[in-house]
Amino acid sequence: MTIAVQPNAPRGADLLAALPLAARGTPVAYLDATRRTLRALMERPDLLDGLTLERRPGGYARNLLFGGGGISVWAMVWSPGARTSVHDHHCSCCFGVWRGAIREVWFRPISESEAVATADATRPQGYVACMMPTGPNLHQIVNPGAEEAISIHVYGFDHAVHASSVHREYRVVAA
Ligand SMILES: [Fe+2]
Repeated sequence: MTIAVQPNAPRGADLLAALPLAARGTPVAYLDATRRTLRALMERPDLLDGLTLERRPGGYARNLLFGGGGISVWAMVWSPGARTSVHDHHCSCCFGVWRGAIREVWFRPISESEAVATADATRPQGYVACMMPTGPNLHQIVNPGAEEAISIHVYGFDHAVHASSVHREYRVVAA
């Protein structure tokens, strides 16, 4: 297994480096380990000290923090008004809100290209969630606030193999 900690690794890189081993266990054990890791990282205000983060005004930027063993970890920087497409995932997806707050909208697919909204919640700083591709995992993330938000995402994909965690994108239709 190749473990590639980035040259400008975040504080807590040792915690991230343990995730590939956890990923070789059962899905339940992996999600437990990842949830614990993310909760610990959310408690670290110095997590991204010394790193140069990419930012995209009006959108969001992904910053690779760790990649290896089938896991990639990203710091997502959300400008005010940034939003993802409505999408599901081909891999496990865990995230924690490290700074600011984000809004997460959940959807139910009605075909391979259309979905209806089912739930909508604001996720405050410290919030951690995990989902598997086998469960409900169709959502959209938005930064509705006037301040930048940053979230840390742990995905079960190899960044050298897949461009992103997105499986399909959906068009939203009225319920
Ligand atoms: Fe997602």
